[in-house]
Amino acid sequence: MSANLKRDAAAAALEEVRSGMRLGLGTGSTAREFVDLLGQRVAEGLDCLCVPTSEATAAQARALNIPLTDLETIDQLDLTVDGADEIGPDLTLIKGAGAALLREKIVAAASSRMVVIADASKIVTTLGRCPLPIEVNAFGLAATRRALQMILAEFGAEGGISLRLSADGTPLRTDGGHLILDALFGRISAPKALSSALLEVPGVVQHGLFIGLCQRAYVAEPGGITIHDA
Ligand code: A5P
Repeated sequence: MSANLKRDAAAAALEEVRSGMRLGLGTGSTAREFVDLLGQRVAEGLDCLCVPTSEATAAQARALNIPLTDLETIDQLDLTVDGADEIGPDLTLIKGAGAALLREKIVAAASSRMVVIADASKIVTTLGRCPLPIEVNAFGLAATRRALQMILAEFGAEGGISLRLSADGTPLRTDGGHLILDALFGRISAPKALSSALLEVPGVVQHGLFIGLCQRAYVAEPGGITIHDA
């Protein structure tokens, strides 16, 4: 996705922002475009209070003088704007390629409204083409992985599970200090059942299926923005 399309999608979502709003700020390259544009609006006098979904987004927002808070200080957000890795039917999403899925889901769930910004390559008829990130506790990793492998078999996964690594080859740690297992399903035909099964595994902290959380997607294509509503 070109930077221009990311910015187009971000600009469309920015239209929803009103002065005085409490906003959730997503993570990833498309969300970064939104935070950049929001920073410009803040410099022009927009009043807002924001909860970032990662340390990276927090650092970007601080550099732009966007006022930040947390979910200890406020309990409800008006709007969260975030990216997505896959956008499926009913705006069920796969998120977490940027390893921020836990905070992203907490923030989305605390928001009255969540919109995603993406390009058309993220739209799928069935979720599962990209790996599903599963955030796990490091303790008992092998046991957790075995339990997840059984779930993959039960749900007819076409691929396996891999431990996500950082650029230096060591296991990637999320902002919360956890690990990420990427599970390649190929097709996820029963997202709700899969979500429940994954959350039954004691070592699973959270997974990247976002079900019933997103109300709108702004999808950028060279010809313009398409709006998808749940
Ligand atoms: C972060 O953990 C992810 O959920 C991102 O929101 C997602 O990977 C989208 O990223 P891009 O906008 O960089 O494609």
